[in-house]
Amino acid sequence: MIEKEAVAIVTGAGSGIGRAAAIAFARAGARVAVIDIDHDAALETAARIRDTEAIALRVDVTVEEQVVEAFDTVLGRWGRIDHLFNNAGIRGGTDEAHRMSSVEFRRVMDLNVAGAFLCQREALKAMYEAQRGTIVNMASIMGFSTGPGAAHYTASKHAVIGLTKAAAFEAAPRGVRVNAVAPGTIETPMNVALAGNEKAMRDRYTPAYPIGRLGRPREVAEAVLWLAGSASSFVTGHTLVLDGGYLLR
Ligand code: NAI
Repeated sequence: MIEKEAVAIVTGAGSGIGRAAAIAFARAGARVAVIDIDHDAALETAARIRDTEAIALRVDVTVEEQVVEAFDTVLGRWGRIDHLFNNAGIRGGTDEAHRMSSVEFRRVMDLNVAGAFLCQREALKAMYEAQRGTIVNMASIMGFSTGPGAAHYTASKHAVIGLTKAAAFEAAPRGVRVNAVAPGTIETPMNVALAGNEKAMRDRYTPAYPIGRLGRPREVAEAVLWLAGSASSFVTGHTLVLDGGYLLR
């Protein structure tokens, strides 16, 4: 359960899983800060939130000053930060490890790991003050497995699981829980873009899923809300896999 009037920050909330989670937090009664580097997309998500308050903030989560300012803005406006869904991330190019440029490797690590670290850090500061709060980080099945052309992405998502465990260990005695979700392939703009179109996306990825279909943003949002809310009050440092059986193969 999410407390009414709780304040949730969702990064990468202008699209895909982040947008679905921002809307789900609002439906559960939370006020939502919609953070995205794409301001129009963030505004669109905020506009879809009608039941509670929402603000859209243009933030590049890899830029420290912008992250600090955004968390200050949320605290200034609502006085509390109860939940962070640390979701912004990219897949990056698909060169194999022996051809991957260091620039591309660093670009993915910078967003998926350092960006998540910065947002997690700012959330922890506010939550330690309040002695309460929850963080859900965005990992992936690539935090457990791998695939072709994914050295950067695989390394980054393994790192997110480590980031989650380390923070959870320190945060537990302070009343703050930190968990992660690790989805398989979800039908989002990121995957449509990778495959070319929706049909190509389904044809390419579905055979790897014993359940016979890809995941939906709403299904990840539900898991995020469970990990963020009081229903999971004894769960911390955990990475919840949502993969339709992918890792069973
Ligand atoms: P998406 O591409 O639909 O949305 C990502 C959002 O993040 C976009 O709105 C984008 O503007 C924003 N963003 C990009 N760079 C940013 C930055 N520097 N600062 C702030 N915002 C930024 O992606 P999708 O598919 O919803 O993925 C979201 C997260 O879920 C990512 O971390 C991804 O790695 C992870 N994931 C996605 C899976 C999938 O199959 N779609 C599976 C497993 C994990």
